[in-house]
Amino acid sequence: MTQGICILGATGSIGRSTLDVVARHPDRFRVIAVSAHSQVEELAQLCAASGADYAAIADASRAAALRVRLRELGSNASVLGGPAGLLEVATLERVDTVMAAIVGAAGLPPTLAAAAAGKRILLANKEALVMAGAVFMEVVRKNNVVLLPIDSEHNAIFQCMPASDSGMASGRRGIRRILLTGSGGPFRERSLRDLSGVTPDEACAHPTWAMGRKISIDSATMMNKGLEIIEAHWLFDVPGESIQVVIHPQSVVHSMVQYVDGSVIAQMGNPDMRTPIAQALAYPERIDAGVDALNFFDLGALTFEAPDFERFPALSLAYEALAQGGSAPAIMNAANEVAVAAFLCGELPFSEVINVIEEAMQALPSTKMTGLADVMEADARGRQVARRAIDRGVGKAA
Ligand SMILES: NC(=O)c1ccc[n+]([C@@H]2O[C@H](COP(=O)([O-])OP(=O)(O)OC[C@H]3O[C@@H](n4cnc5c(N)ncnc54)[C@H](OP(=O)(O)O)[C@@H]3O)[C@@H](O)[C@H]2O)c1
Repeated sequence: MTQGICILGATGSIGRSTLDVVARHPDRFRVIAVSAHSQVEELAQLCAASGADYAAIADASRAAALRVRLRELGSNASVLGGPAGLLEVATLERVDTVMAAIVGAAGLPPTLAAAAAGKRILLANKEALVMAGAVFMEVVRKNNVVLLPIDSEHNAIFQCMPASDSGMASGRRGIRRILLTGSGGPFRERSLRDLSGVTPDEACAHPTWAMGRKISIDSATMMNKGLEIIEAHWLFDVPGESIQVVIHPQSVVHSMVQYVDGSVIAQMGNPDMRTPIAQALAYPERIDAGVDALNFFDLGALTFEAPDFERFPALSLAYEALAQGGSAPAIMNAANEVAVAAFLCGELPFSEVINVIEEAMQALPSTKMTGLADVMEADARGRQVARRAIDRGVGKAA
């Protein structure tokens, strides 16, 4: 039986790595649908090459151009435009598995729709879970969704969880804490003073991973690790105080689970996202991911250190948002998205990204969230406050 796959965010870094793994196993997987935001040429090429039957483009004004280009490439794929098109491809009957690899809050509605339709979900889009944690997990539980993490750290934790447990539900499993590793990003060793003039290209030059621009900036501020703390809480039902960040610059140990008997189980591998993608696609089996075997003789030393909370206040903000609960993580995530976008287009200095987030969190007290409408409202409020802070010139005010 081949698995029908929908890849949301097919033109991105995770989307392309997914297509690479899938193409190695035509006997197992069939690409049913691919999506993008605005990159017509890239989406058309990927759709034609993968033989997908549907191509969804979030920017509806580009749907006609996509249709024309697909026909030129010899593809008869149906074209869907706008956010409704994303919902449609994520819930198609022929789709068994949805790779949720849209970046940011835009990924929440189609991922949630896929969960409500009972699809198996491969979750790369951590922002969806951070902003809507309780609401998202409730839909997952109600629909018996198989939810598999793609973030290398969470995929590692999943693999290190007790064998009797799918890793998703808690209980007394003898877990002392989760050790969430992080490389420390490109600025691990730069002084705080040096960071004000950092350019987007410098911030995107990650030492060990090749990723999309937004997550690369999140890695440079360490907000990515902050988002991952909250993601780990929801995926593994572990409180914030039992999730410890460990800086591991070589990115070979992808995370660990420490047990009460003193055991620590780690998952290791070369830093290549095709490993967690293949693990989740084939779960519970194993398939070739096209990734070189880890060679311990070439590795040299693996090092571990404590994170610097002063240099990277994003970590404290994330623990704080998790402790507050309710709308706080959604507000933090929204402000971060706005601030990162502003930095990437040269509107905001790197050093001000965190100040924007802090201001939004302080201005907007956490409120209860009972459904998607509350989540979207918190997201909108977080964006508004962040936008105002940037327009006012946060730097000058600081
Ligand atoms: N890259 C990694 O190694 C990695 C590792 C762990 C987790 N993740 C997570 O995986 C997700 C994707 O990351 P990425 O690095 O692959 O990002 P990326 O390379 O920037 O790709 C993002 C994808 O999302 C689409 N997209 C952007 N905005 C959209 C919108 N408003 N509506 C619909 N589609 C939209 C893009 O389409 P266009 O190309 O048309 O813009 C593209 O297909 C993120 O949540 C990230 O945190 C990534």
